[in-house]
Amino acid sequence: MNRIPFKTVGIVGGGQLGLMLCDAARRLGLRTVVLDGNPESPALRRADRSIVADLFDLEGLSRLCSESDLVTFEIEHTDTRALSKLASDTGVRISPSPQALELIRDKAVQREVLNRNRVPQPRYALWDDASAELPDGFSFPCVQKLRTGGYDGRGVAVLSGPDSPRLSGPSIIEEQVDVHMELAVIVARAASPDTGETLQVRSYEPVRMDFDAGLNICTRVVAPCGVSQETEREAMAIAEAAVTAFGIAGVCAVELFLARDGNLLVNELAPRPHNSGHLSIEAHATSQFEQHLRAICGLPLGSVDLLRPAAMVNILGHAPAGPTHATGYDRLLSIPEAHLHWYDKSPCAPGRKMGHITCLGDTVEQAVERANEAERLFSVFGQSD
Ligand SMILES: Nc1ncnc2c1ncn2[C@@H]1O[C@H](COP(=O)(O)OP(=O)(O)OP(=O)(O)O)[C@@H](O)[C@H]1O
Ligand SMILES: [Mg+2]
Repeated sequence: MNRIPFKTVGIVGGGQLGLMLCDAARRLGLRTVVLDGNPESPALRRADRSIVADLFDLEGLSRLCSESDLVTFEIEHTDTRALSKLASDTGVRISPSPQALELIRDKAVQREVLNRNRVPQPRYALWDDASAELPDGFSFPCVQKLRTGGYDGRGVAVLSGPDSPRLSGPSIIEEQVDVHMELAVIVARAASPDTGETLQVRSYEPVRMDFDAGLNICTRVVAPCGVSQETEREAMAIAEAAVTAFGIAGVCAVELFLARDGNLLVNELAPRPHNSGHLSIEAHATSQFEQHLRAICGLPLGSVDLLRPAAMVNILGHAPAGPTHATGYDRLLSIPEAHLHWYDKSPCAPGRKMGHITCLGDTVEQAVERANEAERLFSVFGQSD
């Protein structure tokens, strides 16, 4: 009988990415233990075992390491220093490495590593004091990004003029790219858990991400993305170069801008399964979650073939905040090839990711039409008492 090399996978973070990792782990015959501070986190209820402790709690992290054969992440905001030390003290394998996470978590360091490796990206400069003048060579409009701590567009501000509201904290300034389309490539890099050596690299074809311009948050993901084969190949090559530069094991999402002049530029990396890869559960031969587990365990990677055109929409909570309620459930489920993923989060808050829906179709147009209809029919909101 074949040996399953790792029996228990520890996951730092209990959000929806962790939940979907737990589902994939169960099918592969792996056990899961999840760490999160909120006992109501989606993944804690789906894991085989749970540890309720803050992601920076030393005792919690140390328990996670001692109860796991291999530890991975669904979120980068954790004590990577403590995890590095636990790895060297106890010999537990942590994939991707806490060091790789540290390089990515700071957007300035991430840009510097990409630069050193000649990966194309927007022009940028450090901006430590956001009350100061713009760095030399930059003018309005431009984009300010906090170096750390931002997510779902919250650490990003477009500065259209000197009076635009600025974020406070150490930042970078970037040229504002004239974006034709935002793409994402999920790269899987299988690495030997013993030596870290690359065993296999495989990329999903790029998907298109549509954004709510006001919120800077991704609302819809579509595959195939509709660019030329040459652009697809170039995006995949750039994404693989970026992931290799950081030595990331597991799946890593690479967000790219396709600029109006045809250039491809890396926006940012997320060293874990990502919102842009959710549609892989139904649309691809292997989901990003299963692929992540295969990659960190050093197992053969699965096929990344796109089986059907697909469109995914995030279900965002609507006001008011409060215990979660939904309308349109039956009507949503009557849409052909609509797949609901409900994260079971409460309370509902405006803009909170409550679930997602992936719709398949014979064509991209049909998949998008179904996803738009699903979004229209199904609504989630909090109920005030
Ligand atoms: N240099 C840029 N030029 C033009 N638009 C930009 C630039 N940088 C960011 N944006 C816009 O802002 C969005 C959010 O930026 P970014 O991905 O860096 O932030 P984030 O908070 O880490 O996002 P998320 O967590 O949603 O991935 C981008 O997807 C893009 O729409
Ligand atoms: Mg982003």
